[in-house]
Amino acid sequence: MKHRHATDETESPPFPSELAGELSADGLLAVLTVERVEDAAPLARALVAGGVRVMELALRTPAAWDCLRAIRAEVPEMLAGLGTVLTSDQLREAREAGAAFGVSPGLSHGLLREAREMGFPYAPGVMTPGEVQAAVEHGCRFLKYFPAESAGGLSHLRSMNAPFAHLGLRYIVLGGLTETNASAYLADPSVAVLGGSWIAPAELIARRDWDTIQTRAERARALVDAVRGETVAAG
Ligand code: 3PG
Repeated sequence: MKHRHATDETESPPFPSELAGELSADGLLAVLTVERVEDAAPLARALVAGGVRVMELALRTPAAWDCLRAIRAEVPEMLAGLGTVLTSDQLREAREAGAAFGVSPGLSHGLLREAREMGFPYAPGVMTPGEVQAAVEHGCRFLKYFPAESAGGLSHLRSMNAPFAHLGLRYIVLGGLTETNASAYLADPSVAVLGGSWIAPAELIARRDWDTIQTRAERARALVDAVRGETVAAG
């Protein structure tokens, strides 16, 4: 007799495992807040040139939607996701605008249900065991650990994930990461991807300092590759 669990394994997870694998293999993500649409493509080019191939464009500026469209059209090698997804309308528009995935700062049962219904790759933000458990009930295996540093960092992630480790959960780690503290996370097998706004801070984007952003992207890439190897870059 087949027992029905809260998590129905026959349904596809909110974040497809193939895409989760692609992000995990790359390991690095830039969080971007962009005010001017004309900055979007040069910014994405600088990041890609520095080896950052995945982004979470924050829906925190009116220009964000046009920025996404510009990057998709002009820098197709960038895997362009959206962050700060807070409403159903944003989730729907994200899919229509061709975002590769969406993430939220927190966990919303409504957004998880809708993302799954519409087949849009989506990861909720979690920072407590209760939120992880709720996400697991929705079938999640790929989550955003946010805000990582102020929630307790790597030791908190390890304790929080311990009861769920047998499920093979993997995390995008964001919030308060820097060049100095980021690489410690890569030692943990639950960490799939890390990143943040330190790679392309708003003030460098405002100054259109693409060279410095490329250099910061190169340094971020180097710190991930130093732990993970260069399998993706080489492939
Ligand atoms: C996010 O939306 O994921 C965060 O703003 C990233 O955190 P950071 O700005 O501290 O890197």
